[in-house]
Amino acid sequence: MTERPIRFFHRGAITEVRGVAATRSVLDWLREDQHCTGTKEGCAEGDCGACTVVLGELDTQGQLQLRPVNACIQFVPTLDGRALFTVEDIAALAAATAATPAVSAPAPLHPVQQCLVDCHGSQCGFCTPGFVMSLWASYERHQTAGTLPTRQQLADDLAGNLCRCTGYRPILDAGEQMFTRPPARLPRQAVADVLFTLAQDAPLQTAEGFHAPRTRADFAQLRQARPQAQVLAGSTDIGLWVTKQFRVLPELIYIGRVAELQRVDVYADSLWIGAAAPLDAAWQALAQDWPSLREVWLRFASPPIRSSGTMGGNVANGSPIGDAAPVLMALGAEVELQQGEQLRRLPLQDFYLDYMQNALQPGEFLSGISVPRPQTAAGAAPLLRVYKISKRFDCDISAVCAGLWLQLEDGVVRGARLAFGGMAGTVRRAGQAENALLGQPWNEAALQAAQAALARDFTPLTDMRASAGYRLQVAQNLLRRFWLETRPENPLPAAALSVWEAAR
Ligand SMILES: Cc1cc2nc3c(=O)[nH]c(=O)nc-3n(C[C@H](O)[C@H](O)[C@H](O)COP(=O)(O)OP(=O)(O)OC[C@H]3O[C@@H](n4cnc5c(N)ncnc54)[C@H](O)[C@@H]3O)c2cc1C
Ligand code: FES
Ligand code: FES
Repeated sequence: MTERPIRFFHRGAITEVRGVAATRSVLDWLREDQHCTGTKEGCAEGDCGACTVVLGELDTQGQLQLRPVNACIQFVPTLDGRALFTVEDIAALAAATAATPAVSAPAPLHPVQQCLVDCHGSQCGFCTPGFVMSLWASYERHQTAGTLPTRQQLADDLAGNLCRCTGYRPILDAGEQMFTRPPARLPRQAVADVLFTLAQDAPLQTAEGFHAPRTRADFAQLRQARPQAQVLAGSTDIGLWVTKQFRVLPELIYIGRVAELQRVDVYADSLWIGAAAPLDAAWQALAQDWPSLREVWLRFASPPIRSSGTMGGNVANGSPIGDAAPVLMALGAEVELQQGEQLRRLPLQDFYLDYMQNALQPGEFLSGISVPRPQTAAGAAPLLRVYKISKRFDCDISAVCAGLWLQLEDGVVRGARLAFGGMAGTVRRAGQAENALLGQPWNEAALQAAQAALARDFTPLTDMRASAGYRLQVAQNLLRRFWLETRPENPLPAAALSVWEAAR
């Protein structure tokens, strides 16, 4: 690879950037270098949404896809080959669409902006550019598809945007009303044409130590040749090392341009989740097979985090309170590890060695995750539930996350995988509780034995999220809830288990 500038589409033209640090945030570049100060900084850790911008890129069919991201934790070189839209572009779109205004008339607003004004969706206004961008991504997606979002879908789209002033009703009202205005659309084909031109550029390598190979073989070769370099995926963990811990990182090898590793492949008996596949794509595929995963999918961070972060990054990072590992362990997933041309597979539970330590060798990387699919052959379908316990419903880190999987035959437990996050230094299976269930009828006596065994499986810690006593109690209670939902006789109906279902 030869060094070249970072090139992307911004403010209607191809922008070239040189000499920028590999970890310079898109937010700092926008505000400090470009003086595009519409985009705001709130938390600088992906939590508040004030910095939301929208990225455009081509999908495998050459169609433009838009996704919101948090500019505060995205690094500038990752913009290469993509389109960057900020709140400044939105007003420009409205101006381009409107009839020529009288000289003294104020500049027209985009329907998203006008509806926020009309519905009183903004007070201090600090959060508003972020809301505009999340709503605009939703607006473009639905206009393109010819659909209208429900109020709940709008609320889900805004789960990563925090407003301290207005309350969400007027913002959701604006979200509904923006579709009733004369449309102001992005000229998608023109943007796609520019992205097609950018796609002809050579893979990016900067003098500041950012490498973005395009093929799996090149990625593997670079990783092996530079074992000291940091693999960068969605930077939703790594971004915070820079903005919160002020860490100076070694050179970065970016996996986000390796198309082969961005795929989610569906086979008859398994799903293959490429290490660079966005969290949303991975959760969508999992929830297709296991509808009970929908809630944990939507409660995993927020749309901007899920569109940039990867499930591979979540698994490789190995946080004991990560939400993907309990689910994947309960499903019996394996990780695929690659070093040069060598591949090996490990059951996920064997990947974690100790707190934030995994089985990756120098020069090795996680290439994908293989997840068995439910088989429809004779016999009862396996049971799966995932419960996330956190202080906030949306966009919060778990205190405890339980992935619970059982295979029953004639009411007797023939297979059990009970995986918990937040209960030990790594996400782990509860071996003693599983053994207490195997071969037993799925009844209250077996449940109680498994609940008691959980106390032998885990010695949780007390920290700012929860006390040790709470964690153990809640893990035992979640096992009971699982039994109440799935017991062969009188399982509780959904309305008895969820306030959302009860409210329907
Ligand atoms: C606001 C916010 C909310 C969040 N909410 C949640 C939540 O609800 N639940 C949850 O579990 N997590 C949550 N997270 C954490 C984070 O989003 C996830 O851990 C995410 O999946 C990390 O993926 P990434 O692609 O961004 O990884 P990165 O940040 O790019 O990398 C993370 C680590 O994994 C390594 N890595 C990445 N890919 C590979 C690979 N292929 N091979 C080897 N090493 C690799 C990197 O070197 C780094 O050490 C949240 C984060 C934020 C900022
Ligand atoms: S500044 Fe809060 S999400 Fe980026
Ligand atoms: S209007 Fe003040 S934070 Fe949202």
